[in-house]
Amino acid sequence: MWRHSINPGLELRPLQPTDAAALFAVVDAHRASLREWLPWVDATRTVADSAAYIAGTVCDDRETRAFTCGIWSLGRLVGVIGHNRIDWAHRIGFPAYWIAPDSAGQGIMTLCCRAVIEHAFGELGLRQLVVAVATDNHRAQKIPRRLGFKQVSVLKKAEWLHDRHVDHIIYSLAAPKT
Ligand SMILES: CC(C)(COP(=O)(O)OP(=O)(O)OC[C@H]1O[C@@H](n2cnc3c(N)ncnc32)[C@H](O)[C@@H]1OP(=O)(O)O)[C@@H](O)C(=O)NCCC(=O)NCCS
Repeated sequence: MWRHSINPGLELRPLQPTDAAALFAVVDAHRASLREWLPWVDATRTVADSAAYIAGTVCDDRETRAFTCGIWSLGRLVGVIGHNRIDWAHRIGFPAYWIAPDSAGQGIMTLCCRAVIEHAFGELGLRQLVVAVATDNHRAQKIPRRLGFKQVSVLKKAEWLHDRHVDHIIYSLAAPKT
């Protein structure tokens, strides 16, 4: 199991069934803000929903189809980061992430993304990472840009978000040449 300490107060570790209550609590406390760009928030109504989500991630992680870590800041679960999917045939990872608004704006997510990128190109041996961000989610677009991703396209009507389609900007980052 990958467990990664970024600094003394910040750790990534795969979500476990015992994290369900903590995960639900952070989503429930910030649902109004999180739902703006995350389509699954409204369907997360009880701890059982978070438990079911974690059970799915544990299964996907075991099969190495995906990879999902909790972001623990000063001992508190404040967000989630990982790869929504790993395409082993082509060695491409599809990172995704969110953080509670009371932990945003401190550079935590940039640090976490750097760690996930390093792990993807190092330990996992992936050759490319692809991140999709809604065209109006300007805050989230800053992260791939800051980390050297390049915009490769725009996918029209890429996601159904509550009551409308949104377009995605597709960013990609190639592994450093060795
Ligand atoms: C998008 C999202 C992940 C951005 O998180 P974030 O906290 O802004 O990202 P970071 O942790 O990297 O912080 C960067 C900000 O912290 C500031 N910051 C403060 N201290 C910092 C430090 N030591 N190092 C780097 N940045 C620091 C930066 O200046 C930057 O501010 P700016 O956005 O005003 O330029 C977050 O808002 C979120 O989860 N939103 C909801 C879900 C979502 O949209 N997910 C993305 C789907 S693709």
